[in-house]
Amino acid sequence: MKKFLAATLTLALAMTMLTACAGGDKQAQGADEPAVQETASGEENQEKTDAAASGEQEASQDAAEDAEDAADAAVSEALADGVLTVGTNAEFPPFEYVDDNGEPDGFDMGLVKAIGEKLGVEVTVENMEFDSLVSSIGNKIDIAAAGMTVTPERSKTVDFSDSYYEAVQFVILPADSEIAQASDLEGKTIGVQLGTTGDFTAEEFTENVSRYNKAVDAVNDMINGRVDCVIVDRNPAMVFENRFEGQVVALDGAQFGFEPEEYAIAIPKGDTALLEAVNGALEEIKADGTFDELVKTYIEAE
Ligand code: ARG
Repeated sequence: MKKFLAATLTLALAMTMLTACAGGDKQAQGADEPAVQETASGEENQEKTDAAASGEQEASQDAAEDAEDAADAAVSEALADGVLTVGTNAEFPPFEYVDDNGEPDGFDMGLVKAIGEKLGVEVTVENMEFDSLVSSIGNKIDIAAAGMTVTPERSKTVDFSDSYYEAVQFVILPADSEIAQASDLEGKTIGVQLGTTGDFTAEEFTENVSRYNKAVDAVNDMINGRVDCVIVDRNPAMVFENRFEGQVVALDGAQFGFEPEEYAIAIPKGDTALLEAVNGALEEIKADGTFDELVKTYIEAE
């Protein structure tokens, strides 16, 4: 992220607008800022010009503020340096996991690489704890791709792209467990990954929520008898069911009354330029078959 570059752009634009206003020029945009010119509408510029012309002191202040808005809308700080830093938590197969070379891989990683290609930026991945992702967006990382469910609570701090996958919480049980419906979860010791929607779901049934940084650790503890069940998203639950075949079963949360969830990419709040860029890329990826390829490679292969 290049604060300096963004600030420079803003300043350059502000100066251009001031010059334009002073000269009574209706065309408030400078010729030397193509990225901004492309996306700011002429009408907007006219309004800005009019507003700024209403008083000299006010004019310079307004123009500077408007220029800042225009620069924000047109050039995402996150993309300006040509590198998109994506946060994930690679403990969530098949969406993200650490591959044999120690690198984060999985559906979401394929998805963000494809988005990077569409946007012409390099993608670097930061693997971190799931619970740290939301607060790291806009500082340590530009965006997060982590099978992250859109929730009203998270939407207070970040914006979400269009959603790209529907999920639901599953209940993983020891093969011989008698848990079968929502009322059976009351008061049980439930293992979850910290800060996930599985965590929030478990809280509705019991005070005994055991929180882990990795969902697989919760499953291992369940196998060792330390928790009664684990609540985690469908696809990872199915992966774990395969991995611990015969020892655990994964039940569809619909059977427990759990609501469907939507995965989306989390973006810094208010970065409309980035939001639009990511949504545009997602749309292309869906239209040109890349998305279906990723589903085949990562999800259906499981
Ligand atoms: N969908 C759930 C949530 O948003 C779990 C996501 C966990 N993702 C991960 N990469 N560990 O809370």
